[in-house]
Amino acid sequence: MKKSTNRSGRREFLRSTGALAGAAAVGTLAPFGIARAQSAKLKVGLMLPYTGTYAPLGNAITNGFKLAVEERGGKLGGREIEYFVVDDESNPAKAPENTNKLVQRDKVDVLIGTVHSGVAIGMAKIVRETGTLWIDPNAGADEVTGVLCAPNIFRTSFSNWQSTHALGKVLKKEGHKTAVFITHKYAAGEQMKEGFREGFEKEGGKLVKELYLPFPQVEFQALLTEIASIKPDAVVSFFAGGAAAKFLKDYAAAGLKGKIPLYGSGFLTDGVLDAVGSDAEGVETTLHYADGLNTPKDKAFRLAYAKAFKLQPDVYAVQGYDAGQLLAAGLEAVKGDMSRKAEMIKAMETAKIDSPRGQWTLSKAHNPVQDMYLRKVVGKENKVQYVAWKALADPARGCKA
Ligand code: BEZ
Repeated sequence: MKKSTNRSGRREFLRSTGALAGAAAVGTLAPFGIARAQSAKLKVGLMLPYTGTYAPLGNAITNGFKLAVEERGGKLGGREIEYFVVDDESNPAKAPENTNKLVQRDKVDVLIGTVHSGVAIGMAKIVRETGTLWIDPNAGADEVTGVLCAPNIFRTSFSNWQSTHALGKVLKKEGHKTAVFITHKYAAGEQMKEGFREGFEKEGGKLVKELYLPFPQVEFQALLTEIASIKPDAVVSFFAGGAAAKFLKDYAAAGLKGKIPLYGSGFLTDGVLDAVGSDAEGVETTLHYADGLNTPKDKAFRLAYAKAFKLQPDVYAVQGYDAGQLLAAGLEAVKGDMSRKAEMIKAMETAKIDSPRGQWTLSKAHNPVQDMYLRKVVGKENKVQYVAWKALADPARGCKA
């Protein structure tokens, strides 16, 4: 395969321009990946899961992104869009090969992806080397806007730390002193556990046990039995997609619902309530999106999304939509000319995104600074209760850009 020859030649070019010397150099000297005429179609690579437990998340992100493009007449910065799509199967082992299909083979101008934190870490390594513009519309891996941050790397979703940190305050307020955290054993689960632990301990709480099962397994029974014997004040969890739906059902079936209150990052209950029914009733979660925000922007987005896709949007659709909005802000500033890299990055860095979740801006490390809502499942909705943390910023540990 020609791929390795291309890559090493390309790496040599980037090294000679100084692009590999550090994150800052990527922003000043090297082009975004392979420079292309501004009159050509903009090549957008979508690297997302379209099979497996996270497939609904990948589809919602794709829909949201395309809606943002369609709202701009099918063009961004005056350029029509050509999509290149890769199903990454939420498989970290295939991340380098899949990323290179889009970066080296298809030579996309911008890469949009992905959902799974382990896959995102594989993508980050390649886009740092090649300088390709990358917008992460979900995967929360703290490294993406932490140790692996770079001028060409942006995120429109959240960091894993951010998604659970506010839960510490919530549990304290609701009188809980001990908690068990249960999740899949991979970067997202472990980092969400850590974000929660930090926040809970600051409030005087104690995380008494961490329970894990391998991704994407859904055999929860043994762990639920362990929870019943520990009897913590509360259970906190991260699961998403099909695994979240099964966990909520199994939690109720194990007789824990109504005995030990269940909390989580909002992925636990977003996009799954139709499948779960009353087993999720009353579950409280923190997230940067909620039902019932009732802002003009959110109402318009929900209406447009339902009309276009005959589906209700969820947080993943919002994050995909905002990836389109952020890219539009950059491309409009340079009239579609991606060779004006520094100007484009500046426009993206300073954009104020008018999102269905509420307005947000980017931190220095390119992660959203955003309100975290406490939500409660009421019927088929994740009803907003209050803002649990105003303008929460990820600490961006290890980011040197
Ligand atoms: C993650 O792996 O980062 C992730 C996956 C699904 C929902 C939220 C985060």
